[in-house]
Formats: sequence, C-alpha cells, structure tokens
Amino acid sequence: MRLRTVVISFGFILSIAAESFAASPAPVKGEHGMVVTAQRLASEIGVEVLKKGGNSIDAAVAVGYALAVVYPSAGNIGGGGFMTIRFKDGKSTFLDFRERAPLAATKDMYLDKDGNPIKGASLDGYLAVGVPGSVAGFEMAREKYGTLTRQQVLEPAIRLAKDGFVLGQGDATILAGGAKRLAADKAAAAIFIKADGKPYGAGDRLVQADLAASLARISEKGPDAFYKGAIADQIVKASAAKGGILAKPDFEQYKVRELAPVTCNYRGFDIVSSPPPSSGGLIICEILNVLEGYPISHLGFGSADTVHLMVEAMRFAYVDRNSALGDPAFVENPVGKITDKTYAAEIRDKIDRYRAGVSKDLKPKDFGESKETTHYSIIDDAGNAVAVTYTLNGSFGAGVVADGTGILLNNEMDDFTQKPGVPNLYGLVQGEANAIAPLKTPLSSMSPTIVSKDGKPFMVIGSPGGSRIITITLEAIINVIDHGMDIREAIDAPRIHHQWLPDTVYVENHGLSPDTLKMLSQMGYKLDIAAEGKVWGQAAGILVGGESLGEIGKGGGARYNGAIDSRALAGEAIGY
Ligand code: DON
Repeated sequence: MRLRTVVISFGFILSIAAESFAASPAPVKGEHGMVVTAQRLASEIGVEVLKKGGNSIDAAVAVGYALAVVYPSAGNIGGGGFMTIRFKDGKSTFLDFRERAPLAATKDMYLDKDGNPIKGASLDGYLAVGVPGSVAGFEMAREKYGTLTRQQVLEPAIRLAKDGFVLGQGDATILAGGAKRLAADKAAAAIFIKADGKPYGAGDRLVQADLAASLARISEKGPDAFYKGAIADQIVKASAAKGGILAKPDFEQYKVRELAPVTCNYRGFDIVSSPPPSSGGLIICEILNVLEGYPISHLGFGSADTVHLMVEAMRFAYVDRNSALGDPAFVENPVGKITDKTYAAEIRDKIDRYRAGVSKDLKPKDFGESKETTHYSIIDDAGNAVAVTYTLNGSFGAGVVADGTGILLNNEMDDFTQKPGVPNLYGLVQGEANAIAPLKTPLSSMSPTIVSKDGKPFMVIGSPGGSRIITITLEAIINVIDHGMDIREAIDAPRIHHQWLPDTVYVENHGLSPDTLKMLSQMGYKLDIAAEGKVWGQAAGILVGGESLGEIGKGGGARYNGAIDSRALAGEAIGY
C-alpha cells in the first residue's frame, strides 16, 4: 500500500494517512530508457531505436514519423509542432517547426464582406492550411542532435505505412470519430474509409501506400523532397484547385527556428518549456509564480481554496496570453515581465482570498499570448530528455489529403485571431498580437516541458488539449510537486480549467465533490461540469528517480517511471 500523509490545518494540525488514488495503476518502470506516446506501436518503435543505440532525439524523430502513420488524427507530416530538448549535460534547446501563414494570407481572410467570420473557413479545407513544418523540424533535430541516419529513423514508419498495421479498438474509435469529415474528401476517403463506406474497424489492417511513398521520398532525398519537390507540387496543385492559397514559395521558404526555451523556477524545481510562438511555457511559469506564494500542498488537492487560487492565477495569466503574445518575429512578447516573480506578487495582491474575480474587469494589458494534437515524452540511458507536442490542430486537421501524397493537412490557421473578440475553436478570445500576416506563425498553447532538480532531469511532461494544454501540463506538475502524487496519479487526476474568457471554471465530471462545488459557487464562480464521459487532455509523462517525490525522498525507486493518461485511447508507456 502506498501511503500519503495529508496535513490539514484548521488552527490545529491533523495528520491523516490516506491510501493513494486507487484508480491509477502504477507507473511503468525502466532503467535504461522510457518512451511514452499516444499509440502503442509508436512507443515500441521509440524503444527499439533506443535499444539500437540511438539517443532520445533519434527516438523522438522516429516516433514523430511513426505517429504520422499510426495516429493520423494528430501525428503528422502535414502539420507542425515543438520539441523541447534537455541534454545530458544540462543544456537545453527548443525547436519551433510550427506552421507559418502562406504568403498570400491576409488579416481578414476568414471574414465576409460585412466583417463577420465565415463559418468553417479557418477549419475545413485548403484555406485553413498553414505551411507544414514537421518534416523540416524532424530533420533538423536528427541532423543536429541525433546519431542515426535519416533512413534508419524513417524505416519503421515507411514499413508501417506500406505493410499496414492492425487497428486496435482505440485506433478504430479515433478513426470512427473522424469518419464523417474524412469521407467528404475524396483522397482522404480513399485511405481511411472502406469500399462499403464504413471506417476501418478494430482488427482491420490499415495500409497507406501513398504515405509510404511520400515517406520513402523524404528518406531518400531529405526535406527537399517535401519542400522543393513533388510533394509540395502536389499539395499546391490540390490547394489551387480547391480554394486554397498555398504556393510553391511558401514551401521553399519554410525554415525551422531554434529558440531559447522559457525557464523559471517553482519551489526549487527548474522548468524548461516552450517560448513564443507558444504561449505555453510563459503562461505555465506565470501561473506557477503566482501559486508559489500560497501553501498549495497544505490547502490540498481539489479543495475549494486550492481551486480558487488556481483559477485566479489562470485568469490573470490567460488575459496576458490572449492579448499580448504572438509570433516573436512580428510582436514584442513581454517575456521578462510575465516570468518575473515581482509581477506574480502584484497579481497575488489583486486576488481576493475569499471571492471569485471577474474577467470582464480584467482588461487586456498594454505591456509597453485529446486526440487532436499529440504529446510524447522520451528519455534515454544517458539522460537526454525530449518532449514533443505536434499537431494538425483539429482532429485530422483540415480533413484533406492532396491526391497522391497520403498526407493529411493541418487547419492551424484557426489558431490566429480571425477578428479581435471572436472566439476560435478552443473558445479563445484573442487580440491583435496574434492577427494573421504572411509568414507569421499562429500563437500556440503547446507546452512540451522538462523539469529538473539540482541539475538532473526530474520530469518530462506535456499534453494535447487546445487552450487547456497549459492547465493540463501545469496541473500534472503541481500534482507531483505539491500534492505528492506519483506520475500516473498526477496525470490521471481530475482537471479544472479557466482561460479568462469565458468567465467559467471548467471541471471534469466527478472532478470536485458537491460540497466543494457549492463553496466555489458561493464564492461567485460560474461552474461548468463536463458531461459524463467528457474528459480533456492526454498527458504523457516521465518521472526520474522514483515514481513520486515520496519514493525519491525515501531513497528512490526505478530510474525511469512512465505514465500515459488513462484518458488516452491507444497510448502506452514502455520502458526497458
Ligand atoms: O497549438 C495549439 O495550441 C493548438 N493548435 C493545439 C490543438 C490541440 O491541442 C488539439 N487537441 N486537443
């Protein structure tokens, strides 16, 4: 029995020995490496690469290509994402291979003649597609930091696409979820829908011959095959024929950015996470800085007090996210201010300890940013840690495949502000800093994060979930550091979310007790309890040195402890 001591203070101190959160199975253990992804075959490929002597960057690239085959709702070469790397020597870096707006993009391209958003224009079809970055990102990671050849990291993905793979129940459920949209595009339907009009089911073999050919071209010729050769030509041709604006120079000019990650310190733990064009790292740091001033561990997991303070910190951080952040090549991001502990103290001064704040009173400042995205976490024997979050944005992206490529394309353009004040797919109400412009990257929430302690890797974490990625990742960190949960419990624990607007606290079903909900509502909160079965996020995490801080404190446990979210349909943590 794993014991936990909860200390509650009511003027006197009460110690309770409580059994751990019973619903979560123990984390997966490994001594030499750990790979946690949203699809079991991709996890197996990552571990094979590590066993063969590849490092965690090689494994991350092989997994990235493999997920494009076995997890088509989010894994991709037609989208983009971020990779946070912490090397064994303690240095870290960040690769931004997110999509860019095409050269022909304009600020009001999704508005009608009256200035109102055109329904679906930024979500469906070729007009929604940003210039993809995944292939360039994977190749840069491999060339600069990997040890294996391009052919070696691409081989498993090509094999899976060419020979096909047998769908498990989780894979089939995900495909069925996208069937209606995929059926509407002839090339996508030819891949994902059977001759009888039904989606492929559990036990069926999914073969993707065109995707295998595209991957083989990349393997042979490198990223030029995608950006300068036949693949770009095919995508541009389909785009032109179907109302898109993608042009060959968009592909030819695509460049990965290597950026310094955002860093901050929370209760002695060093956080390394995504910088703009993601809002993730900054907003996680801003919320953590605010919470550091409160005794969260004593207030307890899921208490009205803790939820109140978390929500207020989220409210202040998300107004900054939605008004001030954008692509660093286009806007000045107040990085120093947002990560400043004095700024966090100023926010704490504005938080009423007993009452809910009101979002509409919090004006945007002028400082003088599931299965539809996917996150994976990897660590190797040497201690190199990699966190990758990449995406097509919505599930199966724009729902289109250019003829002959087998490549599903993203709908990342929806992450831009289409019109200030109008919510996007994730309900985010954003401002001018994230307005559309040619070559600009839309603001993201993706937060591949690595935490270290005393110069050693401690936690690798991240998740899909749109605007909720930030709070999902944050809560996993707090659950481990403040609430003493093991990595699996920390990921499985019920979630809450607030994003400034709408001024609502979102709570997973059964996430808070009825009396906690009552107390929060008496404080002035509007609560939205998710319907039965509705959950969000699919975190993938690794803890180093033990499965929890408690175990580490007692001398440690397994070296690597991996956990995939119980909400994930097809994922697996595999250690060796
Ligand atoms: O970059 C972003 O913030 C979004 N495009 C992520 C989308 C996402 O997580 C969808 N998954 N549930």
